[in-house]
Amino acid sequence: MGNSHSSAYLASTTCALVVSGVVWHKVCTSPPPWIKELDALGQPRKQKLAGAAVVCGGSIAGTVAARVLADHFEHVILVDPELEDIQKAKTRIMQYNAGHVLLKLFTDGARRLWSNFDNELRNAGGRFVCADFQTHYSGVSVPAPYWEYPDGGLPTTLAMRRSSSQKALYQLLMQHPAAANITVWPGTVRGMKISDNKACIESVVVRKLDGAQITVADVGLVIDCTGTTQAGMKWLENAGITLPADLRCSYRPNIRYSTICFSVSPELESKLPIPNSKRNTLAPYLYVEHFEYGLKAAVLLHTDNNTMQLMMSSSEDGNLPRSLSEIIPFLSTIGGHAPVPAWFVETLEMLCECCPEPSFDNIRIPDQSYVKYHSVPAGTLPSNFIAIGDSNLQLNPVHGQGFAKVMLNAITLNTLLHSVSSTLPRDFSIRYFKTNAARTEGMWDGTRMHDYAASTCEPMAGETRDTGRFARWFELKLLSAATKYADVASALWHIRHLVASERVLFAPMVLAKVLWTQSRF
Ligand SMILES: Cc1cc2nc3c(=O)[nH]c(=O)nc-3n(C[C@H](O)[C@H](O)[C@H](O)COP(=O)(O)OP(=O)(O)OC[C@H]3O[C@@H](n4cnc5c(N)ncnc54)[C@H](O)[C@@H]3O)c2cc1C
Ligand SMILES: *[C@@H]1O[C@H](CO)[C@@H](O)[C@H](O)[C@H]1NC(C)=O
Ligand SMILES: *[C@@H]1O[C@H](CO)[C@@H](O)[C@H](O)[C@H]1NC(C)=O
Repeated sequence: MGNSHSSAYLASTTCALVVSGVVWHKVCTSPPPWIKELDALGQPRKQKLAGAAVVCGGSIAGTVAARVLADHFEHVILVDPELEDIQKAKTRIMQYNAGHVLLKLFTDGARRLWSNFDNELRNAGGRFVCADFQTHYSGVSVPAPYWEYPDGGLPTTLAMRRSSSQKALYQLLMQHPAAANITVWPGTVRGMKISDNKACIESVVVRKLDGAQITVADVGLVIDCTGTTQAGMKWLENAGITLPADLRCSYRPNIRYSTICFSVSPELESKLPIPNSKRNTLAPYLYVEHFEYGLKAAVLLHTDNNTMQLMMSSSEDGNLPRSLSEIIPFLSTIGGHAPVPAWFVETLEMLCECCPEPSFDNIRIPDQSYVKYHSVPAGTLPSNFIAIGDSNLQLNPVHGQGFAKVMLNAITLNTLLHSVSSTLPRDFSIRYFKTNAARTEGMWDGTRMHDYAASTCEPMAGETRDTGRFARWFELKLLSAATKYADVASALWHIRHLVASERVLFAPMVLAKVLWTQSRF
């Protein structure tokens, strides 16, 4: 009797454990909310919201925001001093010569916003390839989950020169039927005026290129898309809003970033000693230095129009190459747990030898910063103020998250706009920032903690280089487990492309493998 009692107890406990294990697994592996919300992206509402939506800044964030807002507002005004001639090289974007990879979330979103996205990007010279960087951490391969996509292969996306992707996206915006209600104003946003009770922005002041100052009245929504300038903070303060002193936090990674662009004819490309399995991918090879050694990285991207771009980063004192003869010597300073493969070195040697005059672009990465609008006390922000893209959060670019982060912001905003019936509620702005912060803060924490490992990094106020030790310990175990276990590699790939939340790492089997695996780094 006692025995059957205890076995019944054991059985029910086991059953409860299994059930909770299954529930735990389900909770962790179900798609994040923003993936479900993709369905509503690009869907116009029936009854448009009143007033003009003013998009301040017309780069990536501005282009995506204008497209989304055209689904919600009667009228969208897009303001940027550099929109007069889209063919002219931008002077205000320092990464204008860098190659940009578009992570899966960006491409997924862009396909909803523009049904002709693939066609237009192909017309602009883009090549769609498997969303795989061939990541090698300290020389060791961290695989992309090809095994999960046996039929069509790994999802596709593309890498392009920034100049090419910027123009192509703007053209998509202007060709879309919604452009009928988008007005482009080449000019600079100077500030805004808020209502007497400080509850909403009433008008926006724009200086056009000819110097004329114009006031846009009857404003429905204002979106700060000014990138690095992060001008929204200044506009709010000048309009009489008191923001917390520590609203913007930043740290200094002290890294340099160089881009070398090769024009590679199809004949030459076919002769490069790149293994066939690595030809139809974003990059044939990406090397990321172990963070305890430094912040060096090197990647060769397949970019648009028969270009290939070699991008490298290092700490300030890292002697990035500035001429052809310095490329291979720089590469030889990269080393870790496995060497850079000989075919990669040979590929670069051939490119250096056979390509006519590649261009060199060497920049200093600015401070990484986060304007924590979500932390201001309720009732402080005007209901109709939003920030998207780098104007809100600017990350270390080596992870290539910029465009996808803009898309994540846009999905969040679109969902929130679909949930309001006529006028924006008083807490609209803070609701956006709080929802958005919950979705993006992991990127800020993850990349920052990683960067703190480097001796040249200057942490943000209140933190030291020791901050995040546990996160770095976990990161090394995670990378190690990803080199061994398919489900861990898959989780990591999906998180990196912003199509899964970090929660997938806490699924029971994934977490167990990560904790169980001894770091090989
Ligand atoms: C070296 C480097 C490499 C990168 N690589 C990648 C990558 O591979 N993949 C990726 O996804 N991301 C990458 N990024 C990040 C990406 O470039 C940024 O996240 C992206 O440019 C942010 O877009 P944005 O529209 O928010 O801001 P920006 O592109 O900085 O644009 C801001 C715009 O605002 C305008 N503006 C400023 N002030 C005003 C004003 N007062 N009124 C009107 N307009 C104004 C400017 O003229 C400009 O057009 C990289 C970044 C760097 C630095
Ligand atoms: C790239 O190629 C496309 C199509 O062939 C062409 O229209 C475009 O102008 C090219 N872009 C550049 C920057 O050369
Ligand atoms: C533009 O706005 C007008 C007036 O609100 C509306 O009737 C029309 O459908 C809009 N056009 C598009 C393409 O959204």
